[in-house]
Amino acid sequence: MGIALGSREHKISNPSRDSIIHLSVTAAPAFQYQLKIASSTKAVLLLNIQQLLTLRSLTAGPRRGTGLDELNIIEGGAVLCQAGRIIAIGRTKDAVRDAWIGKSKRNVVEIDCTGKVVLPGFVDSHTHPAFVSARLVDFEKRTAGAAYEEIAEAGGGIRSSVETVRKASKTVLAEKVLLALNEMLKQGSTTVEAKSGYGLSLESELKSLQAIRGAASDWPGTVVSTLLGAHTIPLEFADNRQEYVSIVCEQMIPQAAKKRLAEFVDVFCDRGAFTEEESLRVFEAARQSKLGVRAHISQLARTPLQHLLSFEPASLDHVDYVDDNDIRLLSHGNTVATLIPGANHFLGLGKYPPARKLIDAGVAVALATDYNPGSSPTASMPFVMSLACTQMKMSPAETIAAATINGAWALRLQERKGSIEPGKDADLAIFNVSDYREIPYWMTRNSCAAVMANGIFVEGAAFERN
Ligand code: NIG
Ligand code: FE
Repeated sequence: MGIALGSREHKISNPSRDSIIHLSVTAAPAFQYQLKIASSTKAVLLLNIQQLLTLRSLTAGPRRGTGLDELNIIEGGAVLCQAGRIIAIGRTKDAVRDAWIGKSKRNVVEIDCTGKVVLPGFVDSHTHPAFVSARLVDFEKRTAGAAYEEIAEAGGGIRSSVETVRKASKTVLAEKVLLALNEMLKQGSTTVEAKSGYGLSLESELKSLQAIRGAASDWPGTVVSTLLGAHTIPLEFADNRQEYVSIVCEQMIPQAAKKRLAEFVDVFCDRGAFTEEESLRVFEAARQSKLGVRAHISQLARTPLQHLLSFEPASLDHVDYVDDNDIRLLSHGNTVATLIPGANHFLGLGKYPPARKLIDAGVAVALATDYNPGSSPTASMPFVMSLACTQMKMSPAETIAAATINGAWALRLQERKGSIEPGKDADLAIFNVSDYREIPYWMTRNSCAAVMANGIFVEGAAFERN
């Protein structure tokens, strides 16, 4: 496949003095990331890629069934990016012979990816980063046998994160969110959905969304904001839940939309959280405000899906307690089922979402971290992918597609994110492994050597290869 650059006009300013960055050389101490190239005005050429996982789709729509493990790999690949976009992809042997590249050599930053895997930056389509502290008491109680719902009923759980969030300044909250985003970036995530949901008052939910926006503006990747005012009923409305639902529907949603603080509205529709009827009110209010919808469903008990699905949610997440009829309903539309095995693992449920049944029935499945202080304190998509392989019997290739292109579909960003194709955003993850299956295989090892997020190249702590 030719890289076909010759006919294109590229205007490149500020050629780099040191135009080759060897990713295996690590001068920086572990966990320090440096912005190496502000590449918005330069072309960047990744060369000698052992495996370039393009994830290019041959069919329309999110990946389903056997299509989920098609990665469209180019061995010895090359990718050219400029001005935050992917310009061309192909083989290194064609790229080095390319007339335009030959002519522009001094003006193109080359990144040697010998022995490495390059894939689309992960799209982590479900996270809750707007909280202040870890929930160590809940964690310890679970080690002594208490269940997630028992802890919530006794005043722990989501409600126990609310007080600190209400008291925190927007700046402090934004710092917390940015720390989480950077943890994610270090492990290959370049697009992240971020929910509010620990403020549970108009003021604190809007503050949480503003903190997310503030952190996003200091981060090179892409953040999609979601209002999760309907996370749980706050203590002060325990005896008057309908009034709280009204505040979510009549105040939080319209104001978040008016201030352009959220793209989606989420609701926790499950046992002990919001009922189907309440959730439909929330969805209807989101529709009125022209916001997209998504929901937490069937995490603790079965959630009826038919009416929720009539709102065409971008994603329904967790999906643990689904029956055959739910699976059939999910297989029909473009609603993605986002699986969260990190929560099952961390809560010690001993049970995982029925990934195989869902995939085999044609449901579009994504994977996400669900980064949060209660049920899934991990920022690592590779760890989640590892759990998906070992606990849900997804193949390594399926986990890659679920963590990239189907994550993009879950955020309705499939035109820009989730695959390496000309015209898409320059969002790449460079892994210090020579076979993509090593990404989920090396459990908890961070092999992400670098990322490119919207064309900004961020070099990570590079890890020696075994
Ligand atoms: O996705 N299920 C609801 N929300 C989170 C948990 C939030 C928390 O416990 O703080 C989840 O698992
Ligand atoms: Fe969640």
